[in-house]
Amino acid sequence: MSKLIFTCQNGYEKYLEEELRLNDIEPRSVAGGFISAKSAEKDGNEPKNLCFPHFCMINPVLIEASSVNALSLAIAERFFNINKNLKFEDKWSFIVLPNLTITGIGKRESAVKEQAIEYLRRIAGRISKLAVNKLPDAPGYHRGLVLYFENFNKVYLSADFIWYGQKRVSDDDDAPSRSYLKIEEAYRAMGIEPTQGQTVCDLGAAPGGWSYSAAKRGAKVTAVDNGELKAGAKNNPNIISLAEDAFKFDPTNNFDWLFCDMVEHPNMVIKLLENWIEHNRCRYFIVNLKFGRVRPLELLASLTGNSSIIKKRSISLKIRHLFHDREELTVMGRLE
Ligand SMILES: C[S@@+](CC[C@H](N)C(=O)[O-])C[C@H]1O[C@@H](n2cnc3c(N)ncnc32)[C@H](O)[C@@H]1O
Repeated sequence: MSKLIFTCQNGYEKYLEEELRLNDIEPRSVAGGFISAKSAEKDGNEPKNLCFPHFCMINPVLIEASSVNALSLAIAERFFNINKNLKFEDKWSFIVLPNLTITGIGKRESAVKEQAIEYLRRIAGRISKLAVNKLPDAPGYHRGLVLYFENFNKVYLSADFIWYGQKRVSDDDDAPSRSYLKIEEAYRAMGIEPTQGQTVCDLGAAPGGWSYSAAKRGAKVTAVDNGELKAGAKNNPNIISLAEDAFKFDPTNNFDWLFCDMVEHPNMVIKLLENWIEHNRCRYFIVNLKFGRVRPLELLASLTGNSSIIKKRSISLKIRHLFHDREELTVMGRLE
């Protein structure tokens, strides 16, 4: 039986609750961007391929104190006690999962983090030297130190956690749309990105954020949309623009990558992706599905159900509600 804390994008807790229940995890208390839950599974069996959570803290302990100093010392001592018999050889992440619902708590989070690492330096110099102030290199299960501030005086601490791959990414002045952030984030969640000379077909490309992101890596992009490409995507030597309907587009060649980010019914977009997969038209795909009137958990079920061609044919299928996603899901995969 494990105690778990999940964080998600603020406002999407109802979907996370539903997803947890479908995975036999019982939500206990819900707040903005936060769900504490219980799983009947043995430790180590926490689900690593969920859509809505960004992080899962495994068996968190609650630390309560009323000053920065007292909180920091208690955090350092608890972390040391949990780990004192374990060998630390690799770098480990020290992360504070931001509580975005309490005004002004960010300063408290930073002050405690800074002071806790100072205490840790005194208590356990060798372990503290391996601490890094950033996310791990790849999504998945990790050991480290994760904090979540329920309020100014209550902090959950956990030394084991799952990161599902979401990450805020920085913008590019030449990117024509904020959609650019979604594709950049998707590469990181997938652990792979288009490279020099690869081919990309971008369906629903305009104004060109996704096309621009692949083109700047040296990929050759075919951008399909009746709309116009703008900014860094316009007249880009790596981008060919075709004014066509993506559902009718019938390419003569295959591509390394399929990108698709159209405001269309998600079931139609799923069918389109299945068609591309069945005809071996791409090796990797990143497809955004707008929830629209379809419940997101229904979409997840149809993508991951036993009859799903997308699931059957993908070596690694990840469906995530990304940090930069709104009412949409991002489906990422590599084909066998
Ligand atoms: C959200 S925007 C895409 C943004 C783009 N990914 C970016 O990074 O700038 C959706 C685009 O899908 C296009 N679209 C919608 N239905 C389409 C269809 N059937 N065929 C081609 N393009 C379509 C729209 O014209 C619109 O430009």
